[in-house]
Amino acid sequence: MTTARWDIDAVRAAFPALALLDDGKPRLYLDAPGGSQVPARVVERMSEVMLLSCANEGGAFRTSQDSDRILAGAHAAAAAFLGARPDEIVYGLNSTSLIFHFSRMIAREWQPGDEIVLTRMDHDGNVGPWVIAAEERGITIRWLDFDPETFEYRYEMLDELIGPRTRLVACNHASNIFGTVNDVSRIVAAARAVGAVTIVDAVQSAPHLPIDVTAIGCDMLVCSAYKFFGPHAGIMFVAADLRDRLSPLKVRPASTDMPWRHAPGTPSFEAQAGTWAAIEHIAWLGEICAGKTAQAPLRERIVAGLEAAITYEAGLMDRFLANATGIAGLTLYGTTSRNRLDARVPTFSFRLARRSPQEIVATLAAQNIYGWSGDFYAHEASGQLGLRDKGGVARLGLSHYTTVAEVDRALEAIAALAA
Ligand SMILES: Cc1ncc(COP(=O)(O)O)c(C=O)c1O
Repeated sequence: MTTARWDIDAVRAAFPALALLDDGKPRLYLDAPGGSQVPARVVERMSEVMLLSCANEGGAFRTSQDSDRILAGAHAAAAAFLGARPDEIVYGLNSTSLIFHFSRMIAREWQPGDEIVLTRMDHDGNVGPWVIAAEERGITIRWLDFDPETFEYRYEMLDELIGPRTRLVACNHASNIFGTVNDVSRIVAAARAVGAVTIVDAVQSAPHLPIDVTAIGCDMLVCSAYKFFGPHAGIMFVAADLRDRLSPLKVRPASTDMPWRHAPGTPSFEAQAGTWAAIEHIAWLGEICAGKTAQAPLRERIVAGLEAAITYEAGLMDRFLANATGIAGLTLYGTTSRNRLDARVPTFSFRLARRSPQEIVATLAAQNIYGWSGDFYAHEASGQLGLRDKGGVARLGLSHYTTVAEVDRALEAIAALAA
């Protein structure tokens, strides 16, 4: 239960970039779905590693032992973040390369006549690697559609899509274009019933929602630290039985034990240290905004921090939706219901009747308001909506460091553009 109020000033003070001015104009970062801002503690930890304790792991000397401690701490922190065990965590360059890496091992198990289920909503990072693997193995792809009115998966298709030949089901926890939060437990349960491997893309949910891989029941789940206030790094949860079943893609002398088994080459100790610090930032939110003590277990503080952030971000979303839906000529691609704020993350994609998405973000950028235009690699979704060749959409994303005044400033700028 939240016992403290959201301390937006303390939260913002943690992020040096939020205080920057350009010609006296504050920067308004609404680009978080593409990459979030970073608290000082993350950068301090990373520079400490590189300046004061830079060594490979596994040695007898002090700086190497520091690297061992970073590996252990970063895996334990990611495990607490996802509700997993430390030996079920794999760090990599980013989510896409981790999925490519695992797809190669998983596809070895596929036989002609097998099928996999992909969705038309996902970022291509959890689609493209499986499409390539399916082509290489000569197996069939079946597609889970979304409803273009509700921007939700068409769950009623699951019975017909998933069957005895299904070997893998890949789906998305939160859409990077619509903001929809998907019922991944439902999809995973349907896949597990036929023994299919399941992979959930949690890249866009991880900055906003507590994730519990045990509750979801998935075999794999992936997220990217640079979306949740950390450095550029990817994290893959892989459940112990699948982890052990997969024959690792490794060089011959490398260990088959975790954390090395599925992480070829020398890891980025600095990125792992920074990711650990980003997770500690979220735990700190649980202390300052939800009344947890610093002695409470890491998982408990993380969940409390994110639950407090959900409440705060719901207020921002409500304000955004209340005003954006009144702007003439604005079409929002995502649920607009203010009664179902738990059905979305604060990512808003829209078009204006007489402005291209590129024109929208360029005009906003001229006012020091940062957003993105395009399809953001939601390749199937933008194709399905006929937007891929029309410049896609403009996308603004709110974060736990966004203020109400910033939401209003963005809305005023959009309203002026629409007029
Ligand atoms: C939902 C989703 N999945 C996957 C990715 C790819 O992540 P990465 O850049 O870590 O490969 C992104 C990036 O924006 C994303 O939004």
